[in-house]
Amino acid sequence: MSDSAAPAPLHVACIMDGNGRWARRRGLPRTEGHTAGEEALAGVVRAASDRHLGWLTAFGFSTENWVRPRTEVRHILALHRKLFARTDEMNRNNARTRWIGRPFEEKGARTPVVVQKAIKKAISDTSNNTGLSVTIAFDYGSRAELVRASRHAMKAGPVSPRSIQENLYDPSLPSVDLLVRTSGEARISNFLLWQIKGAHIFFTERPWPDFDQRELDEALATLNGPTHT
Ligand code: IPE
Ligand code: IPE
Ligand code: MG
Repeated sequence: MSDSAAPAPLHVACIMDGNGRWARRRGLPRTEGHTAGEEALAGVVRAASDRHLGWLTAFGFSTENWVRPRTEVRHILALHRKLFARTDEMNRNNARTRWIGRPFEEKGARTPVVVQKAIKKAISDTSNNTGLSVTIAFDYGSRAELVRASRHAMKAGPVSPRSIQENLYDPSLPSVDLLVRTSGEARISNFLLWQIKGAHIFFTERPWPDFDQRELDEALATLNGPTHT
């Protein structure tokens, strides 16, 4: 057996669902669920870093989510500013912030300027870290990503899997090994449709604010089952 073949760092992607239901069950406004969900993500980042995962990608806000009530959207925007400002924590975890979504300058993109600034600052303030890469999907939808990638790929010649990959929002984002969706919904909801080609999927009934390191370990343990190509 070759000792040079270190296993590739794992990529875990999370569809962080169920914040609203978590809050409702407690008689709280939905916004409280989003606040708790942001804290849960910070915990998962720490846990992912401790476990030496390579990549953690979290679905923060989708291209479809803009139709939600304005007060809820505003609260979620503020939470993303908070999330992207967690630079000290990211640095302590040797973790880098990345982002995927509709590029700011392109038609249809909706990320407000204040969030754009927070994203740019987070990326630059954590760019020297060498551990976990944490990608936040904000104003992200996989169909928009794939339509754009196809258009760009066509300009350069015949479209191939490789040319599509090279024109994704972040071409360096590796394939997902494990996709987690919380809160009992067995749906993909337009998340990373290209990147989850061979991913193992872990659905849990728990809402996202209750997703913790124990459940991350449970999800990771399911990767040890039979493999498929
Ligand atoms: C996920 O929780 C967070 C976002 C989609 C921004 P939800 O807000 O979808 O919570 P539920 O699914 O209504 O419980
Ligand atoms: C998916 O959750 C989007 C995010 C987690 C950001 P949704 O709650 O928006 O998904 P649907 O509408 O139930 O499919
Ligand atoms: Mg939901």
